[in-house]
Formats: sequence, structure tokens, C-alpha cells
Amino acid sequence: MGFTIAVLPGDGIGPEVVAEGVKVLHAVARRFALDLTLEEGLIGGIAIDQTGEPLPPATVALCQSADAVLLGAVGGPKWDDPTAKVRPEQGLLAIRKTLGLFANLRPVTIHPLLVDASPLRPERLEGVDLLVVRELTGGIYFGEKRRERDAAGEWASDLCLYTEAEIVRVVRVAASLARTRHGKLTLVDKANVLETSRLWRSVTTRLMQEEFSDLSYDWMLVDACAMHLLRKPSDFDVIVTENMFGDILTDETSMLAGSMGMLPSASLGEGHKGLYEPIHGSAPDIAGQGKANPFATILSCAMLLRHSLQHEAAARAVEAAVSATLEAGCITGDLARGDQAVATTAAVGDAVVMRI
Ligand code: IPM
Ligand code: MG
Repeated sequence: MGFTIAVLPGDGIGPEVVAEGVKVLHAVARRFALDLTLEEGLIGGIAIDQTGEPLPPATVALCQSADAVLLGAVGGPKWDDPTAKVRPEQGLLAIRKTLGLFANLRPVTIHPLLVDASPLRPERLEGVDLLVVRELTGGIYFGEKRRERDAAGEWASDLCLYTEAEIVRVVRVAASLARTRHGKLTLVDKANVLETSRLWRSVTTRLMQEEFSDLSYDWMLVDACAMHLLRKPSDFDVIVTENMFGDILTDETSMLAGSMGMLPSASLGEGHKGLYEPIHGSAPDIAGQGKANPFATILSCAMLLRHSLQHEAAARAVEAAVSATLEAGCITGDLARGDQAVATTAAVGDAVVMRI
């Protein structure tokens, strides 16, 4: 069976890391006799430069007809003017929304060799294996935005709105995943202050009783969670939370793994189609220098194989090749300690390909 994958390299280090992901996908296709067609599209700042829009219609059409989307990163200083009407990030938010990708999976596992790369003490990292499921197409990111001026000066507002249906569908994804893992779900909210959080709390609690009573379920306030993630991260299995809390907490969880360059993500909707991207950004300071860590993108390709192509064996082959590459000491500078040798982005990608 054939699959089409839309490839959106984007800005900064996006093209460099995506190039390695593409190499890996080709290698997997050869090894498992998959018929993959990869087609490139524009998104972000480069799309603004070439077409005036961060998400041109041609890219939307490409993603809509594809089975999966592989994305690098968007944004950079060139487009950073906060007063600009058109911004690269709008392209990313729009493609998530247009494709209906409401569940963003951000797993955190720690390779034993990278324990020293984390700012946390090694004993705190023992047994860490968690997954954050972030709601991705609602909440304060997508509510009405206003910016006005009255007699007292300027004011602005961002509306945070959630419907019961939006909560139910993402919690179902998170709870179903918990069932395949360690059987524990933690809802993270701010129900002591926010009405939206109180809705999350009651809807989630009811759903867990009705459909997932076999799982262990608890909730935690987001500020306490931020603290607990550093104090005892191994307590968590699956965390489910709203869009903005998930954005903030996953930058924090990436530090458990030692580098932003290690963490992949999958954004899923109702069907098998998904968008896969590293959780790191476009890192303009190191773009074009061959320094970027491609592991997060390559591990995102593994998630693509697992969730969109439903090919668990291929996904595991990629994950095993990444581990073997790490164990062989082939790493970029962000992971190197002391006088450890540093490899380029492309050399790391080649080392993974060799092991597939
Ligand atoms: C992320 C990023 C994006 C987000 C930005 C680039 C809009 O931080 O994917 O976590 O906030 O969702
Ligand atoms: Mg973020």
C-alpha cells in the first residue's frame, strides 16, 4: 500500500533536521518495502517570503491529501516584529486547526546515556517515562483576541473557551494511551481559579468513571505540577491538559531528557492522519551550521510510522537505531559532555540510517 507524506521543512534548523528525517524514512521504506511518496511544501517564514502567507493554500491542499505531515520548525528573528500582521507561527497554528489535530502527544523517555545531560540529579530521573497529551486546537490559543484603546489607555484580551466535546475527545485519546502504558492519568488544570478548568475537571472525572474506571486517575493544579515534574517526575504516566498549560509544561519536561533536541511529538485527530514535529523551535542561532540535533525529528518519524502508517515494527526499528547511534557515541554538541567528540547533523542522520 502506498502512503504520501507531506514534508514541511520550515525555517531555521527546520530544513537541516527534516533532511535527516527524510533520509531515515527512505531507509525504513527500503527495509520494510513501504511505498512512500514524499512531497515538500512551504510553511512559516519561508512561505511568507515566497508567497506572502505563512500557510499557502497549496500547502493546505498537500497536507489534506497526505497520510501524514512531517514538519521542521517555524519562525526566526527576521519575522519577529510583534506588530506584524503576518507571522510564521500563524502557519503552524492554522495547519493544526485545519487538519483537526486536537491531541498533541509529547512523550518523555530518558536514555541512560543522557542522564548526565539533564540539569536534574540522576536519582531524580530514575524510572521517568511520561507522556503529555496537550489539547492543541482550542483554549486561549484560538479564542477571540482583542486589542483596543479607551480613555484609560490600551487594553487587550485573549478568550479561553472550551466545550465539553473538545475536552472529551482529547481525554479519551489520553486515557486510551494510558491503558497501553502504566494505567495512570493525571489531569492538570487550574480549577481553583479558572471556570474552563472546572469544566475540564468535571467532564474528565465523569468520563473516567464511565469509560476508564480500570485506570488510576487523579488531578493536579498546574503550578503544583510544574514543581512536581522536577521533584519526582517518575510519579507521572500520562498527563492530559489544555493547550497553553501543555505548551509550557512540555518545555519543562524536555529538560528531563537533557536536551530539547531529543523530544518528538505527534499531533493527531479523529483518523490516522497526523502531523509530526520535534518539540524544539527553529534555533536561528545555530541554523545552517550542521550543529542541530536531528534525533527529535527522527524520533518524530518513528511516531509517524506508528500512528499514521500503523507500522509498529518500522517505528521500533527507527527508535532502536537512534538508541544504537547514541550508544555508539555519535551525537551533536548539545549532548556532548567533556571532551566527547561531536558529530554533524548529517553524520548523526547517516549513523541512524546505517543502523536501520
Ligand atoms: C510548540 C510551540 C508553538 C506553540 C509556537 C511556535 C506557536 O511553542 O509547538 O510548543 O505554542 O504551540
Ligand atoms: Mg512550545
